[in-house]
Amino acid sequence: MIQQRQARVGIIGLGYVGLPLALLFSEQTFAVTGFDIDSRKVDTLTQGGSYIFRITAEEIRAAQAQGFSATSDYSRIEQMDAIIICVPTPLNQYHEPDLSFITDTTQALAPHLQAGQLVVLESTTYPGTTEEVMLPILEKENQNGLKAARGASSAENEFFVAFSPEREDPGNTTVARCDIPKVVGGVNPQAAELAGALYGSIFHRTIPVSSPAAAEMTKLLENIYRCVNIALVNELKLLCLRMGIDIWEVIAAASTKPFGFHPFYPGPGLGGHCIPVDPFYLSWKAKEFDFRTRFIELAGEINTNMPYHVLASIGGALNRQKKSVNGSRVLVLGVAYKKDIDDLRESPALTIIELLQQEGAQVSYHDPYFPFIGKGRKYDLQMKRTELVQLGQYDCIVIVTDHSDYDYKKIVAEAQLVVDTRNATKGIVSPKVVRC
Ligand SMILES: NC(=O)c1ccc[n+]([C@@H]2O[C@H](COP(=O)([O-])OP(=O)(O)OC[C@H]3O[C@@H](n4cnc5c(N)ncnc54)[C@H](O)[C@@H]3O)[C@@H](O)[C@H]2O)c1
Repeated sequence: MIQQRQARVGIIGLGYVGLPLALLFSEQTFAVTGFDIDSRKVDTLTQGGSYIFRITAEEIRAAQAQGFSATSDYSRIEQMDAIIICVPTPLNQYHEPDLSFITDTTQALAPHLQAGQLVVLESTTYPGTTEEVMLPILEKENQNGLKAARGASSAENEFFVAFSPEREDPGNTTVARCDIPKVVGGVNPQAAELAGALYGSIFHRTIPVSSPAAAEMTKLLENIYRCVNIALVNELKLLCLRMGIDIWEVIAAASTKPFGFHPFYPGPGLGGHCIPVDPFYLSWKAKEFDFRTRFIELAGEINTNMPYHVLASIGGALNRQKKSVNGSRVLVLGVAYKKDIDDLRESPALTIIELLQQEGAQVSYHDPYFPFIGKGRKYDLQMKRTELVQLGQYDCIVIVTDHSDYDYKKIVAEAQLVVDTRNATKGIVSPKVVRC
């Protein structure tokens, strides 16, 4: 059925991961049904619209022509052959894994589970989630007494389970999504083969691993590698600032080494759904094994401290102009968690705005992707984007996200003071610029 493009694919969670995935399957002429509990998303898609900046309404309509539809009705799971789960995996207020989205989804889908269906989890999570959390709910709460296929042979009343991590790099225009190899770990060889065939129809390469846990761990290793290396350059940046050395120049020079060095860049703090969150899934799970993941904890400590470093740098820069943060007008430039994307999650800009406000600054912001900042899981700013005019009115402009749209020369020329957390003003020589 997969080879003939006859398999019906259900994608649960139509966010930054699920919706592009649905479109990839549609492009390969699969009939895709998207499931989401957010009725606004379902309505927008049903009307042929999009709510993700880099996905156009035309793409949604082209998918609809291939049979794509969106729904909140879980009973339609019964008609699917393969079900892929792409729901959020955040941390709770105690920095522990919040698996409620995975358990809620699994509980909602289990009563509709059918023999022979393939269920794949894509949400980033700790090793063991697929087999210890998801699989037991599917077995316990399905209505047909179905069991997950285990071992080499399979029986009629079985379903198949696998884990395959999403590896997207939002905003990256150099690697097409279908060129990112897809790691797949099945509960048994048949599940692995089915999931491999399914993903093999939209990705150029699939990488089978021996178990869902190995696939879950692969994703965490990738993100921990980034988190730890970013913390390393952030720490070295703090040292370089004290020593009067330009860390960006050093990284550029080190990057010329043809082997053994991969560049990472310092910044105002970690952002996004993955890097600040995922490593703590593993440190939590490690405790079950009486094990402390010290690299993760140290990296977390350094990276979490970066917005405070930015605040101190703004304070120092204003102080040198005989001003205080308290009462100053500060413009935060760029609030997305990284350049040229429309994603605000865990963005350090939000923390920096809050810290500035706590110190009495009058904060405005600009970001081409966000006309408004409302309420999120951890913030409630209710701010409206300001126009990029009369930049001289601000005591300080802080570049938090280096979007390509900004004309940094013009910004520096008009500003009284610029604090640059991203080296966006590289090559601009001005006493008004403070790199931090
Ligand atoms: N965004 C990325 O770049 C990225 C990259 C790699 C991995 N991931 C991982 O992929 C997963 C999904 O991330 P995302 O960025 O797409 O999240 P998202 O918040 O953009 O989307 C998740 C969607 O799931 C829906 N949802 C929540 N509970 C549901 C339920 N019970 N039933 C149906 N739908 C439900 C939400 O309404 C939302 O539309 C996370 O585990 C994340 O860590 C994300």
